[in-house]
Parts: sequence; C-alpha cells; structure tokens
Amino acid sequence: MTGQIGAPAERLLTPPVVRDRDALAAARDRLPGPVAVVMTMGALHAGHAALLRQARARAASVIATIFVNPLQFAPTEDLDRYPRTLKADLEICVREQVDLVFAPTAAVMYPAGPPQVRVQPGPRGEILEGAFRPGFFGGVLTVVSKLLHLTAPDVTFFGEKDYQQLMMVRQLVTDLSMDIEVVGVPIVREPDGLALSSRNAYLSPRERRSGLALSAALRAGVAASGQGPVAVLAAATAVLAAESTVDVDYCELTDPSLGPPPAKGPARLLIAAKVGATRLIDNTALKLGR
Ligand code: PAF
Repeated sequence: MTGQIGAPAERLLTPPVVRDRDALAAARDRLPGPVAVVMTMGALHAGHAALLRQARARAASVIATIFVNPLQFAPTEDLDRYPRTLKADLEICVREQVDLVFAPTAAVMYPAGPPQVRVQPGPRGEILEGAFRPGFFGGVLTVVSKLLHLTAPDVTFFGEKDYQQLMMVRQLVTDLSMDIEVVGVPIVREPDGLALSSRNAYLSPRERRSGLALSAALRAGVAASGQGPVAVLAAATAVLAAESTVDVDYCELTDPSLGPPPAKGPARLLIAAKVGATRLIDNTALKLGR
C-alpha cells in the first residue's frame, strides 16, 4: 500500500509517494529542514541504500527520486529494458527511512516532450563516458537540474561509482550558483569485488564472472601505483586484456578532477567495458609514486 501524503511516515508501509509537481511541492513544504535528496533511476540496491543512509544521517528529511530519465539514453541504449522495480524500491526506501519519494512519469518531467533548453555539460562532459555516450551528460545534468529545482534540497548525495557524473554535478551546482552541497559516497562492492549497479541484473552468471575483470584491473592498478602512471595503466590493461570477453571502451588514469594524471600524488583510474550486451563502469582512487 502506498502511503498518504501528510500521514506520519512511521505508521505506513511505504513512505508517501508523490507523482506530480503540485503534490511534490505540497509535501516538500511540510518537510523539516535540512532536506537531503538522493536521485535514482530505481532498481535500488545496496549502493543506493548507502546513499540513503548517509542522507538520513545528515538531514532531518530525506527525499528519494525515482525516474528513468529518457533524456540520458541514446536510441541504441537500454531505456526500454532498464529494470523497473518500484515495489521493491519502496521497501528499500522504508528500510532507509526515506520521508518522501518523488516518482514522476516522463510526461510530468517533460510535459512538452524533450526539452528544447538543456544543460550544456562543457568540456569535462565530452571525455570518458561523454566520448562513448554522446548526449549522456546533457541528459543527466538537465534532469538533475530539474530535480534539484523541484525538490529544493540543502544537500544531495551521489555515488562515486559514477565518478564523472559526481564531478559533473559538482560543476553544475558551482557554475549555476546553486546553494546545494554535493556529497560523494564511496562505491559499494559485492564480496568478490563487482561494483554494485542496477545493470548487473542483465549479466548471465558467466558474464558476471567476466565482469570481475574491471575491479581486478583496478586492484592491479592500485598495486602498481607506487611505480607511477605508466605502470598503473600497464597493470590494469594487462588484466583487462587477459579476459577476452571484456570489450574495453576505456581504461584511463586522471587526476581526481578528471584532468591529466600527475606523475605523483592523488589520481583516479577509470574503466568502462562491455560484457556481452551490458556496459559496466568502475573506478578507484589511488596515489601515484612513493
Ligand atoms: O545515476 C543515476 O541513476 C542517474 O544518472 C541520475 C543521477 C538519477 C539522473 O537520472
């Protein structure tokens, strides 16, 4: 049963779920601050739960948004088959003590169809994911801007699993003068190293085993980090190359803000690869040199 707006959340089986802007505005007005928002496309897993838990620890009220944003999917991508699991998602929201769920339809978010005015991600949106998924960050930042505008949070939480997305959202709030704190939350992994992702649901058992090459490559890169950037990339690419079913889009080393990697000091190693029809991404922080 879906909760009612305004009824005390603890007595309900789910948090109140609102589906349109007016209901959201009315429910948002009643939430005590500070307010945190965690944006998701649903198919929630322990990675999302970690975001919600951090939000719960930081804010008086937590809003979760659940919206599979068509704007960030290319026509060749998996919009139609993206997992939609609202009932299970709401159970996680209950467990993580979410106060309000905003689960709009595409018609609510884009009443006149695809918007003509969109956020331009700039040069950092054209590398890595942006190079392989043209239009992706324009779609992400446009919906993130709208959701920030509609939910009016004090703080928002994004996973480091989508590290470039986290960087882009930070850039968005800075460049568009939004007075909102953006908190990054570490990646949650399966015991064998696989980074949690809603898209893991697509993997066959055999593909899942192949997908472990990404986290293994990151570990190899970290192990070689004392020897500098060339050694890191050599170690990581050797692990990926040994797994013939993994089709690598990129394996790149950057500084923590996604600029060119330093010879020494903090850096980020990022990998994207297709395993069968499923595209996986993963990354890690590391420290180059001794
Ligand atoms: O990371 C995601 O799930 C999506 O890109 C986001 C931030 C919810 C925007 O649709």
